[in-house]
Amino acid sequence: MTILAASILALAVGSQAHQVAWSKGMYCKNSNSNVDSPNAAGFIIDPLYNLTTTDWFLHGVCRNFPPPAGEYLNVPANGKFTVEIASNRAFTTMSYNGTKATDWPDGKVHPNNWSTNVSDPNFPPSSVGCLGSPNIHAHGSVDAAGTAFAISYNNNINTVAMTDFTVFTVLANTPYKRLATYSVPNLPACPSGGCLCAWAWVPNGCGQSNIYMNAYRCQVTGASKTALPVGKPQVPVWCQTNQSACLKGPKQMIVQWQAQGNNVVLPSGMQQGGGWPSPNYNSKVGFTAGAQTDIFVSTTVKSTATSSASSAKITSSASTTTTASAVNAAITTGAEASNSLSAETATGTVVSEPSDTVVPSSAPPRDTMIPVMLTITAIFILSSFM
Ligand SMILES: *[C@@H]1O[C@H](CO)[C@@H](O)[C@H](O)[C@H]1NC(C)=O
Ligand SMILES: *[C@@H]1O[C@H](CO)[C@@H](O)[C@H](O)[C@H]1NC(C)=O
Ligand SMILES: *[C@@H]1O[C@H](CO)[C@@H](O)[C@H](O)[C@H]1NC(C)=O
Ligand SMILES: *[C@@H]1O[C@H](CO)[C@@H](O)[C@H](O)[C@H]1NC(C)=O
Ligand SMILES: *[C@@H]1O[C@H](CO)[C@@H](O)[C@H](O)[C@H]1NC(C)=O
Repeated sequence: MTILAASILALAVGSQAHQVAWSKGMYCKNSNSNVDSPNAAGFIIDPLYNLTTTDWFLHGVCRNFPPPAGEYLNVPANGKFTVEIASNRAFTTMSYNGTKATDWPDGKVHPNNWSTNVSDPNFPPSSVGCLGSPNIHAHGSVDAAGTAFAISYNNNINTVAMTDFTVFTVLANTPYKRLATYSVPNLPACPSGGCLCAWAWVPNGCGQSNIYMNAYRCQVTGASKTALPVGKPQVPVWCQTNQSACLKGPKQMIVQWQAQGNNVVLPSGMQQGGGWPSPNYNSKVGFTAGAQTDIFVSTTVKSTATSSASSAKITSSASTTTTASAVNAAITTGAEASNSLSAETATGTVVSEPSDTVVPSSAPPRDTMIPVMLTITAIFILSSFM
């Protein structure tokens, strides 16, 4: 296909146009830069794929780009907190006074119940038939795989490890819209200096299988003095077709499709619903939707549970919330399907469109690079190579 550029000043950038949760306290707020970058995208939104542990854990070098001193993501015990999921900081209230933010992660306007069932010539489906923009690896909210936050009471970014992070909340059917509100269980207070939190997403097909993980300096607000400590998190167990085999209690984040550190043991064959097995923050690996109330060290059963195994170091203190069964209805295209999702750019002429930044060559994920021609004279015509 031809590319017509109206200006020599056109800048070609490769946009992977994936998502991260933007908020106060985040690492890599300026992507992998120390300069204020309202238009930050690029590295920070890169999917994590086939990487070493150093490179995928908390999004690799993002660990070297902390938030300003004293800035935290506030996590209210027994309350809720909201972050902004977007493919570019430009599309959030953290940039441009929010003037480029819409209801959606791509900074565009879509119908309220946007899905591949709704035809919009400006936003055609990806080559694998999923939503092209926003690139959420799904056909709509119905099969959005779910995202999660985990917390570590070890707040040392240099020593923290996967085994320190416990998933404490899951938001089913996300990523979908920009605003994402997570429910918090009865978390105890953090030590001086706060905690570390992590946002995590594992898509279910609809392109390359990859994961997303980013760090935040966070603090639990309004914590009860009597709140129980979080137990030692274990690796989740695949239990899609046998929910009684799910691991109960505190769970670690999911790592999959990396060169090192993959943790969930996948079954052979295809998963229920189609595609290669893909562990997500949903019932397939034992995550319930909402606040994870079974993560605390306890011999005291507070809720409706009956007799407890009091000898167990880690027991469930109240475990039932709605399961995210609908999330599993995904129609996937296989773990290694090539991802030809269109970039989160309009296919028409857009004025003053914030661009994604250049994806560093050190990031190997194979998602399709969509060239975008963007001019500083605010005239561009783009064409997809796909
Ligand atoms: C994973 O990375 C290694 C080393 O960088 C490379 O040799 C290999 O081809 C990659 N595998 C895939 C499936 O991309
Ligand atoms: C944001 O709004 C404030 C107050 O109205 C204004 O001073 C500032 O220039 C605005 N910043 C941007 C980037 O538009
Ligand atoms: C969702 O989209 C369909 C198809 O465009 C439309 O018929 C329906 O009214 C929409 N529903 C809502 C709740 O917006
Ligand atoms: C498309 O519509 C069908 C029929 O209403 C529904 O079952 C399916 O979940 C919808 N798909 C999406 C991605 O919303
Ligand atoms: C389901 O899992 C439970 C607990 O691991 C096990 O005892 C049971 O045999 C499994 N059922 C099936 C049908 O595999």
